[in-house]
Amino acid sequence: MKIKRLSVYLLLLPFLSCAEPQGTQEGDIESRVNALLGQMTLQEKIGQMNQLSPFGGLEEMAGLIREGNVGSLLNLTDPELVNKAQRIAVEESRLGIPLLMSRDVIHGYKTIFPIPLGQAATFNPQLVEDGARVAAVEASADGIRWTFAPMIDISRDPRWGRIAESCGEDPYLSSVMGVAMVKGFQGDSLNNPTAVAACAKHFVGYGASEGGRDYNSTFIPERQLRNVYFPPFEAAAKAGCATFMTSFNDNDGIPSTGNSFILKDVLRGEWNYDGLVVTDWASSAEMISHGFCKDEKEAATKSVNAGIDMEMVSGTFIRNLEELVKEKKVSEAAIDEAVRNILRLKFRLGLFDNPYTDTDQQVKYAPTHLAKAKEAAEQSVILLKNDRETLPFTDKIRTLAVIGPLADAAHDQMGTWVFDGEKAHTQTVLVALKEMYGDKVRIIYEPGLGYSRDKHTAGIAKAVNAAMRADAVLVCAGEESILSGEAHSLADLHLQGAQSELIAALAKTGKPLVTVVMAGRPLTIGQEVEQSDAVLYAFHPGTMGGPALADLLFGKAVPSGKTPVTFPKMVGQIPVYYAHNNTGRPASRQETLIDDIPQEAGQTSLGCTSFYMDAGFDPLFPFGYGLSYTTFGYDNLQLATNQLAVNGTLEISFDLTNTGKYDGTEVVQLYVQDKVGSITRPVKELKGFRRIPLKQGETKTVSFSLPVEELAFWNIDRQRVVEPGEFNLWVGPNSAEGLQTTFTVK
Ligand code: NOJ
Repeated sequence: MKIKRLSVYLLLLPFLSCAEPQGTQEGDIESRVNALLGQMTLQEKIGQMNQLSPFGGLEEMAGLIREGNVGSLLNLTDPELVNKAQRIAVEESRLGIPLLMSRDVIHGYKTIFPIPLGQAATFNPQLVEDGARVAAVEASADGIRWTFAPMIDISRDPRWGRIAESCGEDPYLSSVMGVAMVKGFQGDSLNNPTAVAACAKHFVGYGASEGGRDYNSTFIPERQLRNVYFPPFEAAAKAGCATFMTSFNDNDGIPSTGNSFILKDVLRGEWNYDGLVVTDWASSAEMISHGFCKDEKEAATKSVNAGIDMEMVSGTFIRNLEELVKEKKVSEAAIDEAVRNILRLKFRLGLFDNPYTDTDQQVKYAPTHLAKAKEAAEQSVILLKNDRETLPFTDKIRTLAVIGPLADAAHDQMGTWVFDGEKAHTQTVLVALKEMYGDKVRIIYEPGLGYSRDKHTAGIAKAVNAAMRADAVLVCAGEESILSGEAHSLADLHLQGAQSELIAALAKTGKPLVTVVMAGRPLTIGQEVEQSDAVLYAFHPGTMGGPALADLLFGKAVPSGKTPVTFPKMVGQIPVYYAHNNTGRPASRQETLIDDIPQEAGQTSLGCTSFYMDAGFDPLFPFGYGLSYTTFGYDNLQLATNQLAVNGTLEISFDLTNTGKYDGTEVVQLYVQDKVGSITRPVKELKGFRRIPLKQGETKTVSFSLPVEELAFWNIDRQRVVEPGEFNLWVGPNSAEGLQTTFTVK
C-alpha cells in the first residue's frame, strides 16, 4: 500500500507543483487535465465516464471506485460516507482521481425554497440567485459539489408534472432565472468549497412532451428550437454553467442522448461549450426502449458519438466502450474528449486539492437561510383576486376559520423534488398564523378534508360550522406535493378530491372567503376564483411558506408575484401561452360562445376566427398577471427615438405611480412585437422586467434600455438577425395590458 501511495504521489507531482491557488488558472487546468489523461489506461478513462447511485450502500461500490471504474456518485448525502467514498477514490485508486458527488438539489437542500415555478413568479433574479446560494452552502457542507439544476425547459403545458421544476413558459424569463440559479449554485468561483456545479437541463425540448405526458415525444422544428427552446440553455452556457444534461424525449425521432446536432453542432460548435454533458437517468439504455438502438452496445456508441461525456447509472459505457474502441465503432479520441470535460470540471472545482468535506459545519437551516426562504416565498405568492379589499385582514377580523387540506401540510408545502428537506422544519400556515398573529385573532382550525385527494365529504359540515362562527374564512387548497414533478402528469387540472365541494360550501356561508392555493402547476380554478373574495396562488412555497403567507394575509407584506405561466380556463385550451403566433384569422374576442349560439345557426355565423366555443380565446389569467393590495398607474410612455439602427439601443421610459393605499412593489414588464417578419412572429415577447418598490402616492420614472440586437430571431434563411421594420412596444403590469407605442428599425 505504501508503495502504491508513493507512486500516486509521484504521478500527481506535476499537478501538485502548480502555482497557488492550485489549478484555478484555466491554462494550468488544461495542462493538468492533459498530463493526467496521459497517465490513464483506456479502462480508467471509461471509468470516469461512469456515474453510479449507491442505493445499496457504499460497500458494493467500493471495489469499483478502487479500480477506477467510477467518475461520479449521485445520491450519497451522509458526509461521513461521502468522505469515505472519496477516500477510496483519492487514496486507494491507482491515479487518485476524486469523485464528483452529485444530488438533485432543486429548490433548496435542507431549507426548502418555493418550487422553481414559484421562484420564477418573484420576477426577482437576485432573490433566486440568493436562494441557490443558500442551497449550495447547505449541500456542499455534506460534500455535494454537483446539482442537477436549473431545469430550464420551456413549459407551456400544466398537465406536465415537471412544469413545477421549470421557470414557466417564457424564453426570456427562463433565461434570466436560469442564469440566476447558475450564479447562485456556482458562486464566484467553482474552486470555492461552497460552490456546487450547476446543470442546465434537460437539453432539449422536454417541456413540449406530447399531451403533457412525461417522457413523451416532441416534434419541435429547428427554427422553433432556436427561437424558443434554446435561449435559456445558451444563456446558461454563456453564464458558465458547468454541466448540461440531456433530456428523455426524442425530438422528431431522435432521442436527445443520441442527438449530435444539439450536442455537437450547437452546444460545442456554436456555443463553444467546454463543460461536462451527462445523460439523464439511464437515458442511454432507454434509447433501446425508444427503438433507436438495438442493444446496449449501440446505445453506448450512439451516446458517445453524439457527444455525451458521462452516463448516469445505466452502465452501457462501462460494459461496452472498451470493446467498441477495439471494434473502432467509438474512437479513443472521442473518449479522451469526454474525459477531458470531466477532469476539467474536477480541477475547476478544486477537488484534487481539497477532496473532502468538513463534517463539523453547522449551516443547515441557518437563520439567514430561513429568512431568505421566507422572502422568496413572500415574493412568489400571486394575488389573483381581491374583491372589496378582502385582504389584508384588518383588526375587524377577530375570529378566523382556517380550513382546508393544505393549511397544515408540512410535507406537501415543500413541493416536488425534495429529498433532503424535513417536514419537522416546515412552518405551515396554521402554525405560523397561531404563532405570529395568535394574539390578534382567534383561530378555529377545521380542515374539512384530510388531504387534497380526499373524497370523503363528512368533514365539510364541520368546516362550514367553523366558518359560521368566524368573521372570515381562509381555505388552503391545492395539490399534495406528490401530484406534480417527474412522472406526475395529470389530464384533469381541477382541484382534486372534494375540495371544490368544500370551497362551494364555504362560499355559501357568505363569510369573506380567502382561498390560498398551493400547487405545483396552474390549476383550472375558475369556479373557485369566482366563489372566493380573494385568492392567493402560492405554488408549493417551501419551508417558510407559512410565515410568508401569514404576513401577506395580515398586510405586513404586500403581494408582488406574477404568473410565470398562463393559467388556462380549461384543460382543452392547452397549450395556451401569451407569445403565440397569430393565425390568419385571429380571435376578435367578440365571438359568440356556446350558450348564446342560436339553434340551427348558420355554419359561418360565428365569425370564423381562432377560438373555442366553450372557453373563448382568453385564458383564466394571462402570463405576467398579479395584483397587489395597492394599485399602480402607468403613464407617459416615451422612447428617446423611435427610429433605430440595428446596432442601436432603444431607451424607454414611463412613469409608474402607486395610486393605492399601501406601499408596494410592481413588476413592470416590457413586451415587443415584430409586426411583420420573414416568418410569422409572436404577438408579444417579453424583453425586460423590473421590480419597482413604491411608497403610497409615490411616482417614479422607470427606464429600460433594450439593445435592438435583442430583437434578433432565427429567420426564414436560418440566420439569427434583426429584420428591419416596424415594432409594437408595451410596458405594463402583465402580458395582456399596458401602454403601447411603436418604433422602427432601419
Ligand atoms: C431523472 C430526472 O429527469 C433528472 O431531472 C434528475 O436530475 C435525474 N433523474 C437524477 O435524479
